Amino acid sequence: MRRKLAAGNWKMNGTQANLVEIGKLATAHGESAVDILICPPATLLHAATSYAPLKFGAQDCHMLPSGAHTGDISAAQIKDAGGSAVIVGHSERREAHEEHSEIVRAKARAAQAEGLMAIVCMGESAAQREAQNTLDIIGGQLAGSIPDNATGENLVVAYEPIWAIGTGLVPTLAQIGEVHDFIRARLERRFGAGVGRSVRILYGGSVKPDNAAEIFTVPNVDGALVGGASLTADAFSPIIKALE
Ligand code: G3H
Repeated sequence: MRRKLAAGNWKMNGTQANLVEIGKLATAHGESAVDILICPPATLLHAATSYAPLKFGAQDCHMLPSGAHTGDISAAQIKDAGGSAVIVGHSERREAHEEHSEIVRAKARAAQAEGLMAIVCMGESAAQREAQNTLDIIGGQLAGSIPDNATGENLVVAYEPIWAIGTGLVPTLAQIGEVHDFIRARLERRFGAGVGRSVRILYGGSVKPDNAAEIFTVPNVDGALVGGASLTADAFSPIIKALE
């Protein structure tokens, strides 16, 4: 049985004043039956980890453990700051930082080697969906971005259609289901039924309090990776409740 996961990606938002939102979530969901993970900016990670039992992670890591890489942070540093997870391969990084799947795979491997859970993101553009290439794109990103040593503990896959991120546009439930079923089948084919069925698959892209419950009815949707609506407890709490 896969444990549900509500993950918030704060992106480049938030200062110490915003930690109060995490405090509210910890109070409201301290005994939650689902996993709650917040990935704040790296500047807030260590301070955020005082709000156990919520879990915390980073939004990216370097593929190497240390060295002359100005501005980057390593998986070991994320772990040292109290993080237990890291998002890799978000489309905003794939696009703005030209991170192709081979780089994403190396980052995921680095995270797993430090005992972190890698949340590997993938998704198609509007043009790719329009051209009916969605499953080809997802299949390629899955094969290229996910390391060989995946387990239900060290890997989460996040399906995030690029056109749905921050736009208010959401795929139909059938479209979400098609991609999640496809990802599940590919994971089972590559890693065997045991591991393939234990890896959680999140949906991300304009998840809000008013659409979360219906998205969570889709088979193989094990939770959500939430951007904008994870920034306040008022918005994120109802999404978590819909999963609980
Ligand atoms: O990582 C989160 C996603 O990019 C979704 O962002 O919920 O603001 O659409 P959004």
